Amino acid sequence: MIAQSNPCVLNAIDLGVSYGDSTAIARLDFNVRRGELVAILGPSGCGKSTMLNVLSGLRAPTRGQILVDGEELFTAQSKRPRLGYVFQAHRLLSWRTVRQNFEIALAASEVPRETWDERIDEILSILHISKFKDAWPMRLSGGQRQRVSIARALLVDPSYILMDEPLSTLDEVTARALRQELTTICQRTNATVVFVTHSVREAVYLADRILILTRGPAEVFEDFTVPIDRPRDYDDKRIGEVEAAIIRRVQAPWGLAVEGEKTVV
Ligand SMILES: Nc1ncnc2c1ncn2[C@@H]1O[C@H](COP(=O)(O)OP(=O)(O)O)[C@@H](O)[C@H]1O
Ligand SMILES: [Mg+2]
Repeated sequence: MIAQSNPCVLNAIDLGVSYGDSTAIARLDFNVRRGELVAILGPSGCGKSTMLNVLSGLRAPTRGQILVDGEELFTAQSKRPRLGYVFQAHRLLSWRTVRQNFEIALAASEVPRETWDERIDEILSILHISKFKDAWPMRLSGGQRQRVSIARALLVDPSYILMDEPLSTLDEVTARALRQELTTICQRTNATVVFVTHSVREAVYLADRILILTRGPAEVFEDFTVPIDRPRDYDDKRIGEVEAAIIRRVQAPWGLAVEGEKTVV
């Protein structure tokens, strides 16, 4: 359980986002504390990726504020936030080796150059991919590439890491192995992570807290603290029970409640 006294890394206050006339996020208020892994759970199209784009500083919100370590984003004085981003697709440069991909990310960070080699070796070792340091990304499996993407996000000494469904394209066996390691890695590096997923079980297994959104345009449906100690077992009965209870609660707000044989959408 993350201490309530930990400082807030992210605050979203009365956040609203529109694309032209179309509202993607209706209203979000939430915070993320240092060392927390917060899962964002919502149905497809509800505004999760939009929310991450705003948290990354890439897209200004239409309404409201984002504070990073207490400083407001999107003002004339705002600094670029120090963050790592892991996407569904690995987004590695295929004409650069793993190490060169890392160096490109490091060059855009504030990590001192004389510490790069040591840092790269340490993170590669944590993710069990040391032997791929000089490999070409396209020679790696999907799971190995996502390990490289996660390593790249950790390398830049980020204040926080955004992950947008990073495991959803992997086969289940690979995804399970990486999920398990992610929890260990986050604890070991004390990373602060916002993890978007549409998998309820994945959210319950990984997260300290789950921000459950409504169907789009997103609002917070529930800010839920996962009541299960770590380390967790993916097949633990309690994870299944919490998952089932969440699914029951979201069926109606996500427009999936079943009346007799008819699905109400
Ligand atoms: N660049 C864009 N321009 C216009 N509409 C967009 C754009 N990106 C997303 N949307 C719309 O905003 C809503 C939220 O999209 P998105 O944030 O991608 O949802 P999610 O990640 O939850 O699936 C959807 O209705 C989507 O069609
Ligand atoms: Mg998305």
